[in-house]
Amino acid sequence: MEHHGATIWLTGLSGSGKSTLAKMLAKRLRAVGARVEILDGDVVRTNLSKGLGFSKEDRDTNIRRIGFVCNLLSRNGVFAIAAAISPYRAVRAEVRRATENFVEVFADCPLETLVRRDVKGLYKKALAGEIKNFTGVSDPYEAPEEPEVVINSSTQTPEESADLIWSHLVCSGLLKI
Ligand code: ADX
Repeated sequence: MEHHGATIWLTGLSGSGKSTLAKMLAKRLRAVGARVEILDGDVVRTNLSKGLGFSKEDRDTNIRRIGFVCNLLSRNGVFAIAAAISPYRAVRAEVRRATENFVEVFADCPLETLVRRDVKGLYKKALAGEIKNFTGVSDPYEAPEEPEVVINSSTQTPEESADLIWSHLVCSGLLKI
């Protein structure tokens, strides 16, 4: 079965479950024969976006680069899954306009849950002022106003969240199974 490609854009605060979800979704998509690539902010920042920091300008550059690659992939039949905080609405909208079959997924999760979990230990440092401009603590996060899918890692399992995205892909005709 030949699949249309799509860009599945996961946006949300650090620790909100974007990477976990990206991996789970990729596995499921591959299992039905789809071609998939993940563009994870943490990984992209070690190569394609190496040297970029966390100013608004650098974040926007990072997002434009990820969006550019996602567009190349998705127009060639690949499911490109982006997992980046992508805190600014305007640049997400810009990527949406430039990209065919753009699916925005808001990984929502209360900040207090993220601070309590603090998987990478970064919130503690950010709250102590040891990391400046940390998203959600000392830097803005502009939540999507009309995302195609909202998931919540404080109330759902990763499986349940992946199910929601899967349903959207099937219902919108992007995924034919
Ligand atoms: S984005 O804002 O440009 O979309 P991206 O998703 O690539 O961010 O990278 C976020 C990751 O960088 C976080 O998960 C965290 O591990 C790390 N990080 C380091 N400094 C910061 C910061 N000031 N704000 C947010 N994340 C940071």
